[in-house]
Amino acid sequence: MAADNSQHKRPVRSYVIRSGRLTDSQRKALDTHWDAHVVEFKNHSLDLDKLFPQSGSISLEIGIGMGASLLAMAQQEPNTNFLGIEVHKPGIGKVLHEIESIGLNNLKLICHDAKEVIETGIANQSIDRLLILFPDPWPKKRHHKRRLVQPQFVELLASKLKQEGVLHLATDWEPYAEHMMEVLEANPSLKNEMGTGKYWEQPQRPATKFEARGKRLGHGVWDLLFTKTA
Ligand SMILES: C[S@@+](CC[C@H](N)C(=O)[O-])C[C@H]1O[C@@H](n2cnc3c(N)ncnc32)[C@H](O)[C@@H]1O
Repeated sequence: MAADNSQHKRPVRSYVIRSGRLTDSQRKALDTHWDAHVVEFKNHSLDLDKLFPQSGSISLEIGIGMGASLLAMAQQEPNTNFLGIEVHKPGIGKVLHEIESIGLNNLKLICHDAKEVIETGIANQSIDRLLILFPDPWPKKRHHKRRLVQPQFVELLASKLKQEGVLHLATDWEPYAEHMMEVLEANPSLKNEMGTGKYWEQPQRPATKFEARGKRLGHGVWDLLFTKTA
């Protein structure tokens, strides 16, 4: 008789932990500044208002990579509080280094799987803006299940947004852009700010590292901007 492994199925992850080397500055920042700016997540509910010294609207970015866009936004919008989620340690180290050298007090990080953080850590209707910029496109068909943007996850994301809160996605991979559009437009609590089926042609957001890579490879860029309506 075949063994029943259903209890032990590993979750499908949207990332692979790369063994990327840390630079000296990233390692030092991880050692020195972790406690000050990284929120430890232990499958508990987070009190977002208590994370930041000043109250303000909350923007949450999933998969910050090396954090270029998050750092730029946190500087441009000092009255907004930013939370960045990333599993990749070099990116966390890089952002910690910059938080200290710039002197930012409106940016915190979580180094954990964003799906778990969003599910158990974030209260419903608590986020003003959610960003997922250039998530791993997982272009091979057999890997599509690893893509972050899926109906169930988008439903979860929508539940975390405040009324009129925004969901901003971007990708440099056209088939993923089409998939994102399909998934977001099928969600009854989200509305495409650009009009049905339309992308955000002139998005207001800083450039990202992965976007620059895509451009070097000749890829296009597709941004999607939806608001929570119900
Ligand atoms: C393609 S990179 C893009 C990074 C950045 N947004 C940019 O545009 O340069 C996607 C990032 O998302 C992170 N990521 C993927 N799935 C994640 C998850 N479930 N939780 C946290 N981070 C995740 C990866 O580690 C990776 O750094």
